[in-house]
Amino acid sequence: MKIIGFESSCDETGVAVVCTQQGLLAHALHSQIAMHQEYGGVVPELASRDHIRRVLPLTREALTKAGLSISDIDAVAYTAGPGLAGALLVGASVAQSFAWARGLPAIPIHHLEGHLLSPLMANPRPEFPFVALLVSGGHTQLMRVNGTGDYELLGETLDDAAGEAFDKTAKLMGLGYPGGPALSKLAQQGDPGSYVLPRPMQHSKDLDFSFSGLKTAVLTRLRDIKKQQGGVVTDQQQADLAASTEAAIVDVLAIKAIKAMKQTGLRRLVVAGGVGANHQLRSRLTSVLEARGGKVFFPPLELCTDNGAMIAFAAAMRVNAGLVDLNDHSHAFTVRPRWDLHDVCTPLV
Ligand code: KG4
Ligand code: ZN
Repeated sequence: MKIIGFESSCDETGVAVVCTQQGLLAHALHSQIAMHQEYGGVVPELASRDHIRRVLPLTREALTKAGLSISDIDAVAYTAGPGLAGALLVGASVAQSFAWARGLPAIPIHHLEGHLLSPLMANPRPEFPFVALLVSGGHTQLMRVNGTGDYELLGETLDDAAGEAFDKTAKLMGLGYPGGPALSKLAQQGDPGSYVLPRPMQHSKDLDFSFSGLKTAVLTRLRDIKKQQGGVVTDQQQADLAASTEAAIVDVLAIKAIKAMKQTGLRRLVVAGGVGANHQLRSRLTSVLEARGGKVFFPPLELCTDNGAMIAFAAAMRVNAGLVDLNDHSHAFTVRPRWDLHDVCTPLV
């Protein structure tokens, strides 16, 4: 069965085709980063309008790359939430119209489930069960993943997400948007040991996180430097601060991920979401897991941040697990800007 998937929850328009047997066939993606850059962050109304402009050309592109035509498609998936309401509505209405016009089932997908299952598109792919560290712009969660649709929340952030910590500190350092990649790039020139920054909740027994104190600490360091140097921060100090910030975030994520492995007794860790593209996090988790006799899995680098492939793929996983009613052709739909992942879990028997 071939499923076309649409992602439009935030600032990326993604369309992809996945086969329930063969996996990902093709995907097409447009990032709105350049458009939002001059505003220093995502402007929701501009995001929605741009999704409208991009979605049909990207649909053609994905189908062409897959060597398929519309009539080859058997089902349509789309991100139904969480995300920006207007942006979600674009993907949802295009997907539902596609499905209605072709007489196909439409499958609403939870964006985080897309991220969570995306490492299964990599080769080698992890077997269930595994611990998932989900680190996106809006979420930081540790989960025990027993199978498709069977997720147990182990811990989550009490305030800012790890991605937000990257973005907010980058912003106050004047690095622009999106902050994560910018801060991480600058950090390559810096010394991570040069500024002592807090590792919030690293010693707490639970698996929760807190990142909001970190940006305040960075702001305080910046103010101190400026006070001492007549308002000037040197390039090296900027790089050192970036490296110290990245090290603090990576430390906390790694400490809590290992704690989750110990608590669950599992040996496989899966990292998903935009922050999973961070090289320091990748190499740190790879080495600590190896040292413990475990293994860490990441999505292919280009599929860490938002994309259509993970949405079509999550739909394929749900179909294969028998969790989708393929006879539902009602096409009544809604989007859910706020949506707990727990709602898409199969009831425990
Ligand atoms: O998963 P994602 O694309 O969107 C959400 O669902 O939120 O994640 C975006 C987040 C942003 O906070 C961005 O700064 C962060 O992922 N990010 C990174 C890197 N690439 C993206 N953070 C650190 N290092 C990176 N290389
Ligand atoms: Zn995302």
